[in-house]
Amino acid sequence: MLLERLRLRNFRNYASLDIDLFPGKNVLLGDNGQGKTNIIEAICLCGTGKSYRTSRDIELIKWGESTFYTASRFLRKNGDLLVEVACSQERGKRIRLNGVHQDTAIEYIGAANVVIFGPDDLRIIKGGPGERRRFLDLEISAVHEGYRKDLAKYRRILTQRNTFLKDGRHLMSSRRGTAALDVWDEQLVSVGARVMVKRAQVIEELSRLAQAAYKEISSRGILELTYRPSFSAGDVYDTDEGLMIKEWSVLFHRELQRLRQAEIMRGVTLSGPHRDDMTFTLDGVDMRVFSSQGQQRAAVLALRLAELDFVRNEMGEDAILLLDDVSSELDPSKRAHLWKYIDRGIQTV
Ligand SMILES: Nc1ncnc2c1ncn2[C@@H]1O[C@H](COP(=O)(O)OP(=O)(O)O)[C@@H](O)[C@H]1O
Ligand SMILES: [Mg+2]
Repeated sequence: MLLERLRLRNFRNYASLDIDLFPGKNVLLGDNGQGKTNIIEAICLCGTGKSYRTSRDIELIKWGESTFYTASRFLRKNGDLLVEVACSQERGKRIRLNGVHQDTAIEYIGAANVVIFGPDDLRIIKGGPGERRRFLDLEISAVHEGYRKDLAKYRRILTQRNTFLKDGRHLMSSRRGTAALDVWDEQLVSVGARVMVKRAQVIEELSRLAQAAYKEISSRGILELTYRPSFSAGDVYDTDEGLMIKEWSVLFHRELQRLRQAEIMRGVTLSGPHRDDMTFTLDGVDMRVFSSQGQQRAAVLALRLAELDFVRNEMGEDAILLLDDVSSELDPSKRAHLWKYIDRGIQTV
């Protein structure tokens, strides 16, 4: 996949900018604060429908203005794609793909695949579980439409179930109240199990790819990614997806039963994909706690390379690689490894 052209109007520090990009390496040079990261952010916005730096879209509007507009023209295996993202103070964000307005209630558009490698990446290893869920959701959403929809649905059900737990507490002593909660459980489980199974599968795949990449970057240690669902799922990994979903549904349901009193007391859903995590281990030891900064950087690089492989395997074409300030992040040998990888013909900005 290639990004041919980028147009920005009142986006961050740019009043107006039009650039044509090369199919290979594109290097942005400039002093601090000149707007290099802003360009990467705009490309990311067109690829994923979201900024990776902020969840508040109006922050992207140039100060003193009321609307921003961005347009990117991508060349894809299956045709050209024009992605337009605009946002105004009053009307919020609007997205058009090839001129057709998109329902942005589905949070992730997944129009074009980008992989970003930036200064904040160590968060994935060092940050809290929310950072890892965010990473994972973006990654899977970019290639699986079904996952995007399930995730949006899960969030909706979760919010409603939490509201019910909080506001309907007085009903819980009645048959009617517990029956209503049973219905919420069914819904949460049916979507939640699909989300968890997809996460389990993708983490297994990413682990395999990242392990191979890590071996090339750093000769020492075995890198592994492991899924840590919010409840113990034991060893219910199966090659049959349908069967796996069934097994996870049973476990998830059982867990909600077990937690029911506690949930009613606290008025919040205590188990499910919204509480998932994953771990990075090096030779079986948790990297978050025991690894050096250098090892963590190598692991993140391996993870990004794994993402590139993953996108190519799933989509049949390369993602666009966005590198923000890598020279400050990687030592010369890691950088050399990255260049070698890019030289396969991945478009890079
Ligand atoms: N909404 C905005 N409107 C106008 N300028 C902004 C906005 N958001 C950030 N900036 C400016 O953009 C610059 C940062 O750009 P950035 O892309 O991070 O720089 P760098 O080239 O160092 O990566 C800063 O000077 C900041 O003041
Ligand atoms: Mg920058």
